[in-house]
Amino acid sequence: MRKKINYGRQHIDKSDINFVIKSLNKKLITTGTYVSLFEKKISNKFKCNYAYACSNGTAGLHLAYLAINLKKNDIVLMPSVNFISSYSMAKNLGAKIFLVDVDPITGQMTTEKILECVRVNKIKKIKAIVSMYLGGYIENNIILYKLKKIYNCYLIEDACHAIGAKYKEKNNVYSIGSCKHSDICVFSFHPVKTITTGEGGAVTTNSKLLSNRIKIFRDHGIIRNKKSYWKYDIKQTSFNYRLSDINCALGVSQLNKLNQFIKKRKKIFYEYKRKLEFLKRYVRINNYENKTNGFHLIILNINFNNLKCKKDDVFKYLNKYNIFPQYHYIPLYKFSFHKKVFFNKFKGSEEYYKNSISLPVYYDLKKNDLSHVIKIIKRFIQINRLQST
Ligand SMILES: Cc1ncc(COP(=O)(O)O)c(C=O)c1O
Repeated sequence: MRKKINYGRQHIDKSDINFVIKSLNKKLITTGTYVSLFEKKISNKFKCNYAYACSNGTAGLHLAYLAINLKKNDIVLMPSVNFISSYSMAKNLGAKIFLVDVDPITGQMTTEKILECVRVNKIKKIKAIVSMYLGGYIENNIILYKLKKIYNCYLIEDACHAIGAKYKEKNNVYSIGSCKHSDICVFSFHPVKTITTGEGGAVTTNSKLLSNRIKIFRDHGIIRNKKSYWKYDIKQTSFNYRLSDINCALGVSQLNKLNQFIKKRKKIFYEYKRKLEFLKRYVRINNYENKTNGFHLIILNINFNNLKCKKDDVFKYLNKYNIFPQYHYIPLYKFSFHKKVFFNKFKGSEEYYKNSISLPVYYDLKKNDLSHVIKIIKRFIQINRLQST
């Protein structure tokens, strides 16, 4: 029986285990040297001034909001096709959230969609735009930066999918996380992400002011007296969002392998693309021009107009062969907590949601497992294609 092929999973090797063992033998297993080493490695690799490890990506987004002093009724814009974290953390602070429709192929916000959201909702003052690079593909980040300037608001990058991704601007290449075109960037190190610390996240910025706030809010809001270590003040209560040295040691070791991980993901991306190209009438993978993406997800767009089946049928068929793809994501306005919306406001999101699934992609995905996934997709199309097409 073939083993379960999930859409993602971690890769842990001997060096990871050795790093963790070393961390366990240190005097401090939290707030120690591996935390600062991990943070230093992040800031060096992505070329930002400040990096802070935190307990997970959700905490990282919360810290970003606390750093910009997001308050009740402040307006935040974010894509409707999204993970819940950026929404729930802003909601907890009482912000007014406006979901922006997305491009039906990339699942990401565009300038037009943001302008439309601002116009339709008669938005006057935006506190923050929270971008999200779905699947690790860097779309429109420079344009969003221009909008940030126009609206005079913060731009927070939810880059939980996009570690290791790079982008070009005027012949210069920058890393996501450099914050050259944003205020704050947030990563997640959950096991399905490109690198993992078990649970974990990181926040990067170039602003001294924001960085001070992130640091303080990560640690209960405690401000230590520089001269007398036993004295401290708390001006605003906060949370414990620290990440331990044990997790950070794993992070150091994983970060050493980031390029190798992305190389493999990219290879898998091109293998799917090449092998499914001739079926483009039925399925296609977006032709991401920018080859320096993060390749976190491989999103298959399915043209159901040419097939006699629905999205659930794809899942059921693949599951039968022990393949477990995923949705990324159910648009946030579809959940019970959200008040009802007119779906015609979200045409792009509806189309994206109807047509897109995430295929298995991870470092340890074996060649024969990848061939198996491709074979089953081809067979599914063979069975379900409309005769007339
Ligand atoms: C886009 C996005 N944002 C935020 C998060 C939250 O990260 P974490 O699970 O580390 O809290 C995730 C994690 O799945 C994510 O995919």
